Amino acid sequence: MRFLAALSLILSVAALSACSPQNETAAVDGEPMVSPILTSDDAKDPFSYAQPEVARVTHVALDLALDFAQENVSGTATLDILAADGADTVILDTMGLIISSITDETGSDLPFELGEANDGMGAPLTVSMGRKRQIVIAYTSGPKARALQWLVPEQTAGGKHPYLLSQGQPTLNRTWIPTQDSPGIRQTWEAKITAPEPLTVVMSGLSGGDPVEADKGRRAFTFAMDKPVAPYLIAIAAGDIVFQPLGPRSGVWTEPVMLDKAAAELADTEKMIAAAEELYGEYRWGRYDMIVLPPSFPYGGMENPVMTFLTPTFIAGDRSLTGLVAHELAHSWSGNLVTNANWSDSWLNEGTTSYFENRIIEKLYGEKRASQERALNFAAMEETIAEKGSDSDITALHLTGDNAAPEGGTSGVIYDKGANFLHTVEAIVGREKFDEWLESWFDRHAFEPATSAMFLADLRKNLIKGDAALEAKLMLDEWVYEPGLPSNALRPDPAAFAEVDKAAEAYAASRTLDKAVWANWTSAERLRLLSKLPKQLPDEELAKLDRDLGLTASANNEILFVWLNLALQNRYEPAVQLAESFLATVGRRKFVAPLFKTLVEQDDWGKPIAKRIYAKTRSSYHSVTTGTVDAVVLDGK
Ligand code: BES
Ligand code: ZN
Repeated sequence: MRFLAALSLILSVAALSACSPQNETAAVDGEPMVSPILTSDDAKDPFSYAQPEVARVTHVALDLALDFAQENVSGTATLDILAADGADTVILDTMGLIISSITDETGSDLPFELGEANDGMGAPLTVSMGRKRQIVIAYTSGPKARALQWLVPEQTAGGKHPYLLSQGQPTLNRTWIPTQDSPGIRQTWEAKITAPEPLTVVMSGLSGGDPVEADKGRRAFTFAMDKPVAPYLIAIAAGDIVFQPLGPRSGVWTEPVMLDKAAAELADTEKMIAAAEELYGEYRWGRYDMIVLPPSFPYGGMENPVMTFLTPTFIAGDRSLTGLVAHELAHSWSGNLVTNANWSDSWLNEGTTSYFENRIIEKLYGEKRASQERALNFAAMEETIAEKGSDSDITALHLTGDNAAPEGGTSGVIYDKGANFLHTVEAIVGREKFDEWLESWFDRHAFEPATSAMFLADLRKNLIKGDAALEAKLMLDEWVYEPGLPSNALRPDPAAFAEVDKAAEAYAASRTLDKAVWANWTSAERLRLLSKLPKQLPDEELAKLDRDLGLTASANNEILFVWLNLALQNRYEPAVQLAESFLATVGRRKFVAPLFKTLVEQDDWGKPIAKRIYAKTRSSYHSVTTGTVDAVVLDGK
């Protein structure tokens, strides 16, 4: 009896969650859009306490004040709940939140219980809502809420005003928003945020227009996201920021002293959007704006809808690192429109996006740059697979066991192997057919979660269509579920770096490089050369390389990073100062963590340097970065 009751409850919610017979997302005029949830085992999210089959959040309305002195946000979150007929509780995800009350829409208290906290997941918040389907949570974010980074003025380019930035992916938004923090539970949202003058607030939703005066020298900003999104995509930044349009639907926010540089580097944005649309269909989010953040932002970029967040370290002065922008833009389809249902299928977001990114680069900058970037990524992937072992589960696309943890995909394999998978399928079936299918995949699953199994089933149904020879050639299951690189993997064109590889070989023998040739190389060619240099180099040679190639003075942070890593690996004393100033300003984990790791690996030489620098710089990093670097420097050998 109990079992039957539970079953009918699940069925009724599954029906509720399906907006049309095909279980597709459908917009009913005037009604907010509601996306379906997936209920299959492979779609379950073990890193959320939510039980969406029983009750799930469909809309979040935030009314929050930013407090730069206390370094917290406080106010209310009003949640709309879609629940099974008999359901009387809803379970939310929280981490460190201080809950002062939960009421229904009339202000009557609702009982709630905050469960025991677990370090990775936080604590479940169970609200007894009875028959109510809207709840109002009054709360304050806890001290050191991990999504949020509060910068003192000295950490900004202008140096005069504080700054706030957030990073939600994968499971950090529960430190400032009490909701169901799972990528498979999509929600529409709106927000009213107050901040002290003269700070400006931006979010990953469309702005409601000019701010209005609020009390005590504060201004209120409003935002709305009327398309259901995964909750990790709700993002906020506030600071002394200004806007410059780049085109009719795009523009850039950044601090005033950064504006010209940022806008110049991003000048191709409209062309990128057009290229992306030509490839895989209409851009469905309205505006595409970006914010170039202070250098403590822990990632290169984050695809927050309508407001991509970017590190300033991609600015090289020559648009050579704008693959980052193509990547975050591509997520507007792969990731934001069709989203991995849980983090074991991160490759659906990141691998598909890396493929899409390369296609945009090819359209905009030509096949040479695209094929060089592919070759560079392929080599990096081969190196990681060799390092982890080609039988290691971490080199599969669909991650299992401990690797399926939200951060499990950060080894990078899912990016490059995922992209290579799609390049391989493209090469086998032909570009035209593949593009048509990929566009239709985004369309069929727009505003919905997806799993690896769904991706493969869709490929089979709509592209392979029973062609047994084609099925055998593609090796789909091996690509997705097995570790290592399948034998049919598309290899990069050896011509991509023919000249550079020859120069690297010559260098190994003669120890000289032609400065003039280097000067004419692309960013990818330079990175390739640096990756092919002998790993052990004496001081004189490092000094000569630095002098000849202008490495220390490079405006390209990818090159600077590779140079610093090489120098520190060789205990090259003259590079320590540059490493120290780099680590004191840049908080991007991809750069910071490997540099500290390299130092720590240089035992009695490097470990004391790492500890000394980290003691000074740690407080300037986002929790994402300290989370990784603590384990390297503090807990390390
Ligand atoms: N969505 C990711 C960032 C991310 C991944 C955050 C996993 C949290 C967990 C973003 O799109 C990304 O991949 N950024 C890359 C840039 C890209 C060009 C490979 C980065 O930050 O380096
Ligand atoms: Zn990405």
